[in-house]
Amino acid sequence: MWKWNYIWIQFLISLLLLIEFTFAKSTASVAGLTSTCPALDPRLNYRPVIGILSHPGDGASGRLSNATDASYIAASYVKFVESAGARVIPLIYNEPPEVLQTKLNLVNGVIFTGGWAKTGLYFDVVEGIFNQVLKKNDAGHHFPLLALCLGFELVMMAVSKNNEILESFSASNQASTLQFVKDLNIEGTLFQRFAPELLAKLSTECLVMQNHKFGISPETLQGNKELGSFFKILTTSTDENNKVYVSTVQSESYPVTALQWHPEKNAFEWGLSMIPHSDDAIQVTQSVANSFISEARKSFNRPPAKEVLDNLIYNYPPTYCGYAG
Ligand SMILES: *[C@@H]1O[C@H](CO)[C@@H](O)[C@H](O)[C@H]1NC(C)=O
Repeated sequence: MWKWNYIWIQFLISLLLLIEFTFAKSTASVAGLTSTCPALDPRLNYRPVIGILSHPGDGASGRLSNATDASYIAASYVKFVESAGARVIPLIYNEPPEVLQTKLNLVNGVIFTGGWAKTGLYFDVVEGIFNQVLKKNDAGHHFPLLALCLGFELVMMAVSKNNEILESFSASNQASTLQFVKDLNIEGTLFQRFAPELLAKLSTECLVMQNHKFGISPETLQGNKELGSFFKILTTSTDENNKVYVSTVQSESYPVTALQWHPEKNAFEWGLSMIPHSDDAIQVTQSVANSFISEARKSFNRPPAKEVLDNLIYNYPPTYCGYAG
């Protein structure tokens, strides 16, 4: 009995295929469509993975853990990366250097997050990864870095080789505009992918989130030989006392972009009262994420899939700390 059934199913499938084929053929001839998709660009990596460096502490002022070796990555950075089509491997800052190195070799770009740690092992690890980013690019491997808020400040310290280079600013829990430097050509910058209307609004509406007490003035950046030759200033912003600081920079010769502001907060953070959550503000988050991940797709690094899976952030359970801030 089963045998007959089997044959019957086979027959049914053949009949369906025949009908589908005839249908597809007639649709194609009517609409002039073909069913073939253009080949993917072989120069791009469509499965990019981003390393996010963890920051010391529990991210909740001791309400989750007081362990001295605790470190965390706020979920907003992970979602930011995922929203643009990439996955995350956590680079846990206080893991043994060889483990960190192995993980760094599994990714296609790195994010330095916001936070407060500016000294000790954390700074040394940031500086070490930063130097490796330059080395990989020097060796012809496209490898982008996005440094955000504290990350921006640490990169300023690393490039200038001066741990006292930062100045005080009052920009805690403040939404701001971005003022583009005169005659800026946005081609090849973070802003290239922004829709023209959104780009125009950045300088008149408060669409980006600032939350920092330190920063660097345009005069200090340009007056420093190392910083002045490494970075091009894209935008400045003003703090609560109308003091102007550098808010966005990009390296002249490396895919290194640093933002004093927080692109990940608009769409994914709710703890601070001034975070912009408007339609335009969410597009700012999305546009920065798209820009950065499109750089990561240019990375040729294609590590073994199993090693990537073994190290993805999905191996770590997230902890809800919404009540704790
Ligand atoms: C961490 O230390 C603080 C201050 O002593 C305390 O209030 C808090 O409960 C501790 N957190 C945990 C998770 O034990």
